[in-house]
Amino acid sequence: MKILILNGPNLNMLGLREPDIYGSQTYDDLVAFVQQSAQELNLQVDVRQSNHEGELVTWIQQARGTADAIVINPAAYTHTSVAILDALLAVNLPAVEVHLSNVHAREEFRRVSYCAMACKQVVAGQGIQGYRAAMEYLLTNQ
Ligand code: DQA
Repeated sequence: MKILILNGPNLNMLGLREPDIYGSQTYDDLVAFVQQSAQELNLQVDVRQSNHEGELVTWIQQARGTADAIVINPAAYTHTSVAILDALLAVNLPAVEVHLSNVHAREEFRRVSYCAMACKQVVAGQGIQGYRAAMEYLLTNQ
């Protein structure tokens, strides 16, 4: 099984960015953790990060025919992007939304997720472990 793992804006700043909320691990730590987990779960992963909404949309479109599922942390675009929602609906691949922090217990605006409308599951508040939980979910719910 091949999973496209997408990360949205500012996730490249992990480690520096609000460590009290997002932890002290860096984006490179996140990628290493995801790759290690994928190896253990016998999955293939393609891990990417972009600060640009359109680039994320293009990568989702390209997943059609090249990936079996998508794990996405759309970051701030979670709460604003109809374009990412539409791309996920268009490719119609099983998708899981991940958030490092517990978005449900933060500001009101973070409780709204457009992307979740196209996802089978949302994993929030588990830090980088949430990516592994998302991969496990997709493995058992294909
Ligand atoms: C986030 C939560 C979002 O609300 C925020 O804009 C992010 C990161 C998370 O992983 O907890 O950038 O997606």
